[in-house]
Amino acid sequence: MTSILITGAARGIGYQLARQYAEAGDRVYATTRDPGKAQQLDALAAASSGRLTVHRMDVGNAASVKACAAELDGAPIDVLINNAGVWGGLETQTFQNMDYENWAHEFNVMAMGPFRVIQEFLPNVLAGEQRKIVTMSSQVAAHVYDHVIGYSYASAKAAVNRLMTALATELKDQGVIVVPMHPGWVKTEMAGDVADIEPEESATGVRDVIAGMTLADSGKFLKWTGDIHPW
Ligand SMILES: NC(=O)c1ccc[n+]([C@@H]2O[C@H](COP(=O)([O-])OP(=O)(O)OC[C@H]3O[C@@H](n4cnc5c(N)ncnc54)[C@H](OP(=O)(O)O)[C@@H]3O)[C@@H](O)[C@H]2O)c1
Repeated sequence: MTSILITGAARGIGYQLARQYAEAGDRVYATTRDPGKAQQLDALAAASSGRLTVHRMDVGNAASVKACAAELDGAPIDVLINNAGVWGGLETQTFQNMDYENWAHEFNVMAMGPFRVIQEFLPNVLAGEQRKIVTMSSQVAAHVYDHVIGYSYASAKAAVNRLMTALATELKDQGVIVVPMHPGWVKTEMAGDVADIEPEESATGVRDVIAGMTLADSGKFLKWTGDIHPW
């Protein structure tokens, strides 16, 4: 049985990943900022015969990440998925109108957040058999993405790509696979209905890619289809 920890699992892509892994019979540690508001996750947990448990973790808060790691002390984690993300809206992150507080918040959650989660949960990952870490990045991180970008979001995702490629190098000797991944343009609260694919399709693709990942993939920026994303 594979064990998986997912951040930001109460909705969107994170929720679909939690649901699909639980339905496949895996052990899922589903984390959310506010378990009190995670009714969908609670329903999954109730139907899972103990295979899915819900845990509090705000990835933007070091004490919260430490507290969750203490709660799961000693639990092997085969696959750690840094999924949590925030999008403050395009109007507050243009060249003409930049909300610097939002920029700092997005950077804290999406660049520093995965880094501090990996710091705290590395012992769990090393205790697992698969030693896989996936961090949700985005196509907008790539220099080849030739569209208007939200500067805060895109720079936070570009930063997390670089952090993950560096960690791939640092952790290679310990057999840890570290992959930043673009999950597709997905119809969630973040992207809205204009996006391309449903969260179910994204989660299925992400799971397939994770299942096939080897140490040779560590440090690659992958799409949910398994293709390499140029950047
Ligand atoms: N949707 C897309 O098209 C798309 C494209 C490229 C990349 N991505 C990335 O894929 C990931 C999932 O996105 P999504 O589309 O599923 O977005 P979503 O529906 O907006 O869900 C985001 C999740 O992140 C959680 N979150 C936000 N701040 C957090 C924090 N400080 N600590 C812990 N959890 C936090 C949210 O929790 P609450 O419920 O507590 O708010 C929510 O569960 C994100 O990293 C996003 O940037 C998405």
